[in-house]
Amino acid sequence: QKRPRVLSGIQPTADSFHLGNYLGALRQWVRLQDTHDTFYMVVDLHAITVEQDPKVLRERTRRSAAQLLALGVDPARSALFVQSQVPEHAQLSWVLECQTGFGEASRMTQFKDKAAKQGTDRASVGLFTYPVLQAADILLYQANEVPVGEDQRQHLELTRNLAQRFNNRYGKTFTVPEPHIVKDTAKIYDLQDPTAKMSKSSSTGNGLIELLEDPKKSAKKVRSAVTDTGREIVFDAENKPGVSNLLTILSALTDQPVAELQNAYEGKGYGDLKKGVGEAFVEWVTPVQERVRSYLDDVAELDKALALGAERAREVASVTLRNVYENIGF
Ligand code: ADP
Ligand code: NA
Repeated sequence: QKRPRVLSGIQPTADSFHLGNYLGALRQWVRLQDTHDTFYMVVDLHAITVEQDPKVLRERTRRSAAQLLALGVDPARSALFVQSQVPEHAQLSWVLECQTGFGEASRMTQFKDKAAKQGTDRASVGLFTYPVLQAADILLYQANEVPVGEDQRQHLELTRNLAQRFNNRYGKTFTVPEPHIVKDTAKIYDLQDPTAKMSKSSSTGNGLIELLEDPKKSAKKVRSAVTDTGREIVFDAENKPGVSNLLTILSALTDQPVAELQNAYEGKGYGDLKKGVGEAFVEWVTPVQERVRSYLDDVAELDKALALGAERAREVASVTLRNVYENIGF
C-alpha cells in the first residue's frame, strides 16, 4: 500500500531555527517519515520575496539544510532539497499565476498583513504571488497532505481551488491536497511575553531560544523567563501563560505528559521548573549542535546530498510539469 505523500518547506531567513520552529513544525517533519512519503525543502525562492543579501542567503540555506539533517530529516527516507535547484517550481508557478484571479490573490490576508508592514508600494510583486508559488510547490509533487498551521489555511484553500480549477479546465492533472492536522504539535510562546508566539522577528531577543546559540545562553534565558503570580506549577494557559509555556516546552522535550510533570513539580517552585526546562533543553540541543557542526564542516558533502535530493524531487516534478505543459497546449 502506498504511503500518502506529504510536502513541507521552511525559509532560510535566519541564522538558526528556534525552539518554536522545532516543536511546532520540524519535529513533525521527522515523525512523518515513519508514515508518509516525505518531500522537504528549504524555500529560498520564497525567501527572496523580501530583500536578501546573496552571501547571507547562501549561508543560511546551507545552515537550514544542516539543521534539518541534524534534527533527523533522513535523506534515505525523505527527498530533502533546495527549492531553487528544482526549476519546475518557478515554471509551474507562472502557469498557475495565469489561472489565479487578481481579486482572488488580493484577498490573501497574509499578503495584506506583510505589505502593510512594509508599505504597500514597496512590497514586491513576488510577495503578492507568494501563495501561488506555494500552490506550485505542493501540486508539483501530487502531495496528498500538507501540514498546516492556522496561518496557512487560506493558502492551502487557494491551492485546492487552483488544483480543482485546473483539473476541470484541462483534465485531471493535479492531486487535490488535504490539510494534515498534526497531533501533539506545540505552540511555543515568547519567554519574555508568553502571550506572543515565539518568533524570529520577536521584539524581545531574550524571549527567543535559538537552536544554534550557546546553550548556556539559552539556559540563562529560560531562568529569566517571565512567570506568573502565585506559586503553583499548574497548566493554565489563560491565567498562567508563562508557567504553561514552560510546561509545554518541557513536556515536548522529555516526551512526558504535562500531568506527570505537574505531579513531579508539586511542592516545588518556579525556579525549579525553569532549571528543569533549561537542563532538558541543553541536554537535547548539545548533540544536535554537534551534528550541525559536522555537516557544516564538510560543505562539499552537504551540497552533494542536496543535489541528490533535488534530483529525486525533479523526477516527480518534471513529470507533473510535462503533463501541465502538454495539457495547456505547449
Ligand atoms: P517565525 O514565526 O519565527 O518567522 P516561520 O514563520 O518561518 O517562523 O515558521 C516556520 C515554521 O515554524 C512554521 O511551520 C510555523 O508554524 C512554525 N512556528 C514558528 N514559530 C512557532 C511557534 N512559536 N510555535 C510553534 N510553531 C512555530
Ligand atoms: Na513568520
